[in-house]
Amino acid sequence: MNAQQAGERILQLTAILNEHNHRYYGLAQPTISDYEYDMLMEELIKLENQFPELLDQNSPSQRVGGQVTKKFPVVRHKYPMLSLGNTYSKEELQDFDQRIRKAIGNDFEYVCELKFDGVAIGISYSNGSILRAVTRGDGVQGDEVTTNIKTIRSLPLSLKHKDLPNEFEVRGEVLMPHKSFQKLNEEKINQGEEPFANPRNAAAGSLKMQDSALVAKRGLDCFIYGLFTDKPLFATHYESLQALREWGFKVSEFTKKCTTLDEVYLYIETLEQLRPELPFDIDGVVIKVNDYAHQEQLGYTAKSPRWAIAYKFKAERVATRLLDVIYQVGRTGAVTPVAVLKPVPVAGTTVKRASLYNADRMAELNLHFLDEVFVEKGGDIIPKIVSVNHSARPANARKVEFATHCPECGTTLERQEGEAVYYCPNSEHCPPQIQGKIEHFISRRAMDVETLGQGRIEILISNSLISNIADLYDLKYEQLLGLEKSITDPITLKTKKISFREKTTRNILSALENSKQVPFERVLYALGIRLLGETMARKLARHFGSIDALMQASYDELTSVPEVGEKMAQSLIDYFQQPEHKEIIERLKKAGLQFETQKEGVPKEGPLNGATLVVSGVFSHYSRDEIKALIEKHGGKVTGSVSSKTTYLVAGDNMGPEKRKKAEELGVKIISEDDLETLIKQ
Ligand code: IVH
Repeated sequence: MNAQQAGERILQLTAILNEHNHRYYGLAQPTISDYEYDMLMEELIKLENQFPELLDQNSPSQRVGGQVTKKFPVVRHKYPMLSLGNTYSKEELQDFDQRIRKAIGNDFEYVCELKFDGVAIGISYSNGSILRAVTRGDGVQGDEVTTNIKTIRSLPLSLKHKDLPNEFEVRGEVLMPHKSFQKLNEEKINQGEEPFANPRNAAAGSLKMQDSALVAKRGLDCFIYGLFTDKPLFATHYESLQALREWGFKVSEFTKKCTTLDEVYLYIETLEQLRPELPFDIDGVVIKVNDYAHQEQLGYTAKSPRWAIAYKFKAERVATRLLDVIYQVGRTGAVTPVAVLKPVPVAGTTVKRASLYNADRMAELNLHFLDEVFVEKGGDIIPKIVSVNHSARPANARKVEFATHCPECGTTLERQEGEAVYYCPNSEHCPPQIQGKIEHFISRRAMDVETLGQGRIEILISNSLISNIADLYDLKYEQLLGLEKSITDPITLKTKKISFREKTTRNILSALENSKQVPFERVLYALGIRLLGETMARKLARHFGSIDALMQASYDELTSVPEVGEKMAQSLIDYFQQPEHKEIIERLKKAGLQFETQKEGVPKEGPLNGATLVVSGVFSHYSRDEIKALIEKHGGKVTGSVSSKTTYLVAGDNMGPEKRKKAEELGVKIISEDDLETLIKQ
């Protein structure tokens, strides 16, 4: 393919990917599978790598991030970012309404919107492309976080529409949906880190991360609620919102025009009821005067507009007694303490349980049995104990101590030095951990047998029909049909009945059958090897071509693959060393799963042909992975540690002193990245 053909295909792929991106993230109506999407993206990335001069800053490939920002520049807002007056009562809302009617009369409309509980952002566009995204900061100036914002999939990077102004700014809220929040906190707990207290903190923390590739994985979302232009384009706020939606921005469907205060109240009540079911946090509703001319007439106070107000929902807090503490073992083996409470109504539901998060938080509360505790159900889905009334403690109350053994399998719990979380180390035989492995295996992006689902896996495990992923392929129709069970969530105590009826059973078995065609890279990902994500699984699959080659690879061979670090290599070796895993893989092979793929070609001839290089330190023109890829592209071999076989040690800044010492001892030539470039050019 020549540059012109590549350019045309890149444009084509960009348009297709942008369209599907909008369908998936903006409208939640995907029309192609994730796999097809990934393949198109891969084609684009490949072309962009091949023709770097054709890479557009706003290419859909840039969503995956990669750019690292050391310090976010402070930027002045073109239009100041104001805050909103707050109210918690209908009386205050009435005062607000009166003030408005006094100033502009009775002939006007309100627009009621969700008050998203996230981080405010201003995003400017120029000639249809995203230019800059700035946080609120102090309202006058904020941090420029453009590279991080570009990873948010629901946000268009470039737009096309006949009415699009050349320059404009949109305002909105970056938030972390509950699903992403839960996943992130599970990961944090799993790695022994402190979880985020709520999705807002998680969103704010994510926007401040230096590595945008990590931000891309956080699953952030962005709702837009305002349009700013130098010359007014529309007469009303509502029209602006409609245009924004048409241009491709994500604008909430819960936006409503109201003419009377009663309609506003109704909106508030409806939303307060809907709030627990929304997939993200809101902390109230915002009421705005619709007409821009009216807004101008009403004007501003020093901090906020007189034409808008936030009605905030109260976080209801109630007192109850702590009856017991039980322990939940997660899919990763992390043990979470759960408080059993005397049932008490909070914000519309009866609360009987509350999460205590981890041993440290539990210790902070210094809980004793039968303590009076305060429970809050704020924006969080799971109620939490916010404080303890120590003065109401019964005499001789016994202190709550953290469990010593796994409640599921009896194994002694372990805790790593300095970590807040206790783990059950029995990862292969502890039921919830088995469940976790199987859930991952059947997930959409892995083997895609989601008809099986969490609840049904639980039934199969409790009926001793499966205890590992290979057992799935031995399941028979007669064994499954008719199995059923009621399953209760330990915190919300909601119960669901799950069963294997004829049709579901057939669907599950045929999905398992179909999964035998799932390509090797996804099978590898499905195995659930620690630290092995989808992208890395794909790379490894293509690099080694088969599970056998991968299993035989040495530590050095593994670390020589671009992007495979020391921890990843060790994790692979640990996994394949276990006889149990070898047996599972053998059984999966026999069942007919794909364990081979086309190996990616490595050029045999090149300026570095026959040379073995070790890469260490930080470089100024390339990332370490780019250097590794560059070496391989030119016929060289990359290994992880310096030995007598090493030809060159490519040294960057802050290189490990051990590597340098070893190279000097062995007389291995130490070269810079510039030297490497010269070598390649020769
Ligand atoms: S309008 C001048 N609309 O609430 C108008 N703000 O104190 C100011 N917020 O952090 C913003 N949802 O990011 C507006 N539908 C919505 C909103 C909203 C959430 C946030 C905003 C800011 C705070 C205002």
